[in-house]
Amino acid sequence: MTDTQHDAPDVHAITVDVDGTTERGVVSSRTLLVHWLRDELDRRGPKIGCDTGNCGACTIQWDGLLVKSCMVLAVQADGTAVTTAAALAHPDGPLNDLQSSFREHHALQCGYCTSGMLMTATDLLESGEEITDHSVRRALKGNICRCTGYQGIVNAVRATAGHDIPLPHGKTPDTHGAGLDGGRS
Ligand code: FES
Ligand code: FES
Repeated sequence: MTDTQHDAPDVHAITVDVDGTTERGVVSSRTLLVHWLRDELDRRGPKIGCDTGNCGACTIQWDGLLVKSCMVLAVQADGTAVTTAAALAHPDGPLNDLQSSFREHHALQCGYCTSGMLMTATDLLESGEEITDHSVRRALKGNICRCTGYQGIVNAVRATAGHDIPLPHGKTPDTHGAGLDGGRS
């Protein structure tokens, strides 16, 4: 290694489309995309559950591909487009159908996994694959929830696809409210 290489600053200027907004930053070679999104841009959709690629809480869409953003370096995202769960709700505020279905079918408790679940389920719903209990469970196998027991999540995704899934006992449809865009945590 030459002295010049050794002394080169370990930082890179990047430009990334995040949820339709052009964002610029300077990152080190080691900065993970999830850390840049959360710590520098204050985009709290992707959560950090493990930092090891196991839990799926940090799931985003990256140039159309579903990825765990703790497995991508921020510098790799230069010139690309990232979509987080914050982009799922309609621009004027209402939740989208999948988010509403999560509320109605009791598919979240603490909500920490929810933005990752929503991103993965969105990808499945857009894939054109037949939506069954099995296909939903297979798609979501990389997303871990510590609270819900999963059936509510499966029901919510199937209901969004048009399946007639009864609401949990005593519940009535509720399409208003916040908290399914990834929240502040
Ligand atoms: S924080 Fe990325 S998979 Fe868990
Ligand atoms: S709702 Fe708490 S981790 Fe899934």
